[in-house]
Amino acid sequence: MEIVICKTKEEASKLAADMITAAVKKNPKTVLGLATGSTPVPMYTEMAKAVKAKKVSYKDVKTWNLDEYVGLPGTHDQSYRYFMNKNLFEKIDIKISNTHVLNGMAKDPVKECEKYEAQIKKAGGIDIQVLGIGSDGHIAFNEPGTSLKSRTGVVYLTPSTIKDNARLFFKGKEDEVPTRALSMGVGTICEAKKIILLAFGKNKADAVKGMVEGGISQFCTASALQEHNDAWIFCDEESASKLKLRNYYAWRSATKLGL
Ligand code: GLP
Repeated sequence: MEIVICKTKEEASKLAADMITAAVKKNPKTVLGLATGSTPVPMYTEMAKAVKAKKVSYKDVKTWNLDEYVGLPGTHDQSYRYFMNKNLFEKIDIKISNTHVLNGMAKDPVKECEKYEAQIKKAGGIDIQVLGIGSDGHIAFNEPGTSLKSRTGVVYLTPSTIKDNARLFFKGKEDEVPTRALSMGVGTICEAKKIILLAFGKNKADAVKGMVEGGISQFCTASALQEHNDAWIFCDEESASKLKLRNYYAWRSATKLGL
């Protein structure tokens, strides 16, 4: 794991976006795994700026998103499909037919998840997977107690995730947050060739500590990334504040990135 620690989330988002821009320039057919939540938004804004400045094109890029709420159609303003269209896809030159988000309205959710896994496999696997992290250490919607080898499937949200999501979205109304979702599994995520995880703010400090310096455990599904050999964790100073070796990580990653 490489832990990049920046003063601000804007700085970290720019570095992460630059990494994606460089990868897409090198391989215009890059397969991206994408995440929702408030955290990746500044990075998506930077990615869109690079497209506008004609530094890069997404016309041959394919994307698969991490998760979607069960029971929300893609047209619902709190669905993750809607979120992606607004925050990224409409701002870059990607073909919408090349973007994939699990269908939360699927009649047969299990089949939907199997189909999703098969599509990713057919595309050659995910080259770069973008992740946020839940305050309980989850990635995608893989809550505590989920197998670290899990595959894409139906998952059940914890009360704390429902609370977090209501605070940031759903106009604060907890009873409107679906209790189930379709989510890529931890095992599925860990197969990506490269991982870029973003974590900002003091609300994420415990989760970051667990992910980086805790044991590998189902209790913090992000800790599975400790076994990934190309995982980049982009933090601001607040989210990194509980890391014992934060000065060492910051120096090592800055040196590797030539900063
Ligand atoms: C949800 C998403 C995660 C995301 C998390 C944190 O649980 N399924 O992918 O990382 O929220 O969201 P935020 O970035 O808004 O804190």
